[in-house]
Amino acid sequence: MTQEPYSPRCYALVPAAGVGERSGAGRPKQYVDIAGRPMLAHTLAALAAVPRLVQTLVVLSPGDDRFEAALPDYAGWIARVGGASRAESVLGGLAELRRRGAGDDDWVLVHDAARCLLRPAWVDALIDACLGDAVGGLLAQPIADTLKAGDADDRVTATIDRRDKWAAQTPQMFRLGLVERALLLMGAAATDEASAVEALGLAPRLVRASMANFKVTWPEDFELAERCLRA
Ligand code: C5P
Repeated sequence: MTQEPYSPRCYALVPAAGVGERSGAGRPKQYVDIAGRPMLAHTLAALAAVPRLVQTLVVLSPGDDRFEAALPDYAGWIARVGGASRAESVLGGLAELRRRGAGDDDWVLVHDAARCLLRPAWVDALIDACLGDAVGGLLAQPIADTLKAGDADDRVTATIDRRDKWAAQTPQMFRLGLVERALLLMGAAATDEASAVEALGLAPRLVRASMANFKVTWPEDFELAERCLRA
């Protein structure tokens, strides 16, 4: 009997166990309503519209008691395995994906809960660019502004050459085995998956997306996201 060749699957993993201190919202920002729905509902709806993702897992903090009431449609998508850092939350999610049948060679697209303006077409572009790649990659945007370094008094200390600079976004797509090894080695210092993979000496692929895929972070970002979503 001939066996079908194994073809790696694509999973999405959404770390949503942060407190969002910078947002000033007084509660985890993923539950703040934007255009009539919690921010996280917009994020998950975009991922749900990508047929090549076989499953999306949302990582919550163990003490999260809001999700089921705020997002009843997605009650089967969660695991309360978040940790003290983003990297720990992602590692908890990767272990949960393994428990659900994912293996080393499967792809995992890690996406910030707070990038709620994600469009399915960008996710498809990332999958197209990375499926045949030895390393994987991430959505990103070349920097258009002149970049400044500043000191504690908000004084410019340097102008930085922007020519080869990109703003890293998410999703970031790597094979489960690789990204797990990378995050275990780098630990909490990894603010994204790509930096941990880079620390192994590998060069993730940059896949151009849009400024609109911004991370809702500061108080004024909620209004901007609301305007974009209503448009
Ligand atoms: O804090 P920051 O905006 O960089 O967080 C990026 C993403 O990582 C958010 O979706 C946040 O909920 C998540 N996160 C997490 N666990 C933490 C810290 C952040 O899942 N301990």
